Amino acid sequence: MSKRPIGIFDSGIGGTSIFKEIHALLPNESYIYLADSKNAPYGNRPKEDIVRLSIKNTEYLINKGCKLIVVACNTATTNAISYLRAHYDIPFIGIEPAIKPAALNSQTKAIGILATKGTLSSQLFHKTTDLYSNGVKIVEQVGEGIVPLIETGQLESKEMYSLLETYLEPMILQNIDHLVLGCTHYPYLIPLLNKMLPKEVKIIDSGLAVAKQTQSILKTHNILNKSTARPTVEFYSNGDIDVLKSILDHNFSVSYLDF
Ligand code: SIN
Repeated sequence: MSKRPIGIFDSGIGGTSIFKEIHALLPNESYIYLADSKNAPYGNRPKEDIVRLSIKNTEYLINKGCKLIVVACNTATTNAISYLRAHYDIPFIGIEPAIKPAALNSQTKAIGILATKGTLSSQLFHKTTDLYSNGVKIVEQVGEGIVPLIETGQLESKEMYSLLETYLEPMILQNIDHLVLGCTHYPYLIPLLNKMLPKEVKIIDSGLAVAKQTQSILKTHNILNKSTARPTVEFYSNGDIDVLKSILDHNFSVSYLDF
C-alpha cells in the first residue's frame, strides 16, 4: 500500500480527459497533474524534443514523490515511454490509440484514426496497427491545428468546425464506422464530433481502458492507497490556468508553475 500520489503529465490540458476516468475509478488516490502547455503541441516536434520534454516532466513528478506516472499524451507515449521505462524505477502507464477494439467491431471494415503527426509517424503506432488491423482499412488523419485551439479553449469555434470538416470528410467518404481518437485532447471534441459525424460512426477513446490498466498495475505492485485519510489532487500548468480550470468539474487546486 502507498499513499504517494499518482503523477500524470501531458503536453497540456488534454490529459485531464484521462485524469477524469482514472479519478472516477480510483477516488481514494492522490494525484499530481502537470500540464506542459507552454510547450504544446508536442505533435509536430522531433522525437528527441518529445523525449527531452517527457524526461523533464517525469523528473518533476518523481521529485514530488509520485509512485506511478501516467503519460497522458499519445505523442509522448509513442515516442518516449520506452526510454522512460528503461531509465526510471517506477511503473509508467501509456496511452495507445484504441485500434484493436475499433478494428474488431468494424462492420464496414474501415476505421478512421485522428492523431498527431508525432503519433502517426511513430514506430509504436505502426507496430500496433500491423498487429491489430486484421484486414480492416485504417484511414489515418493528422489533426494539424486542433491542439492549439483546444489549449486556448476553442472547443466549438468556427475554426475548429472547419478543421474538423476537412479532416472528417475523407474518412466519411471511405465509409468508416469507428473513429479512434488518438490524442488525449480530442475527447473534448466529442460533443462537436457527434454533431458532425454520421450517426453510425462510433467514437472510441482510450480513457476507461487506461484507468483500468492503472488500477491493475497499482494492484500488481501492491501500491494502491488503502488509507482512509482524505486524498489530495493538485494541478500545475506552465500555461493559462484559467483554461485548465474551465475544463475541470471539481474545484481542484490549480497553480501556475514556472517550468
Ligand atoms: C500534442 O501535444 O500535439 C498532442 C498530445 C497527444 O498526442 O495526446
